[in-house]
Amino acid sequence: MTEMTKMTVKISILVSGRGTNLQSVIDAIESGEIQNAEIACVISDKKEAYALQRAEKHGIEGIFVNPADFSSRAEYDNKVLEILKEKETDLVLLAGYLRIISDDLINEFKNKIINIHPSLLPSFKGLNAQKQAIEYGVKFTGCTVHFVEPDLDAGPIIMQKIIQVLEDDTPETLAERLLVEENKAYREVVKLFVDEKLEVDGRKVRIKN
Ligand code: GRF
Repeated sequence: MTEMTKMTVKISILVSGRGTNLQSVIDAIESGEIQNAEIACVISDKKEAYALQRAEKHGIEGIFVNPADFSSRAEYDNKVLEILKEKETDLVLLAGYLRIISDDLINEFKNKIINIHPSLLPSFKGLNAQKQAIEYGVKFTGCTVHFVEPDLDAGPIIMQKIIQVLEDDTPETLAERLLVEENKAYREVVKLFVDEKLEVDGRKVRIKN
């Protein structure tokens, strides 16, 4: 391989639902906005996840791993890990994946698992972040793309985007406006990762020129 030849980064994406963030990454790869990357597979813990249909429409392998077939989270994640390795995964994206992943899986892919969360972390961790933001009364909220570490929603922050909370916002209207920013942030971060522009130094993530 000459220095000019870039390796293709293989991305596996874990989903549980609708999959707009998955779609955003698919579109960015197909349009050439993200180069030298391909989606190796989409793994879902929900058979009916619409994200699996999105994958299929784009000729991407979708794999349903049924939680009912495993007796513990560790066993389930062993199966996921097996698939990730089989697909020679370089980068794992959590895109609306509702399971907490085990420390073993996280440690195997140190600084190679990225998540998106619909709040400005460290505020409003966990579920229903938009509802939490409205109830707290914040005037601005946003989304956070971060590396995944064993503590929930606590890994080094790569990118955040901000939106205003309007007086008459409901969790649904806020989530809808936020999603537009989420979809942008996720594909921007994936591009930075693929282009090897992210440098992690403790809690700080620097973007190289
Ligand atoms: C997004 O709001 C994301 O921040 C959160 O789950 C939702 C997933 O949406 N983690 P989608 O499945 O990507 O459309």
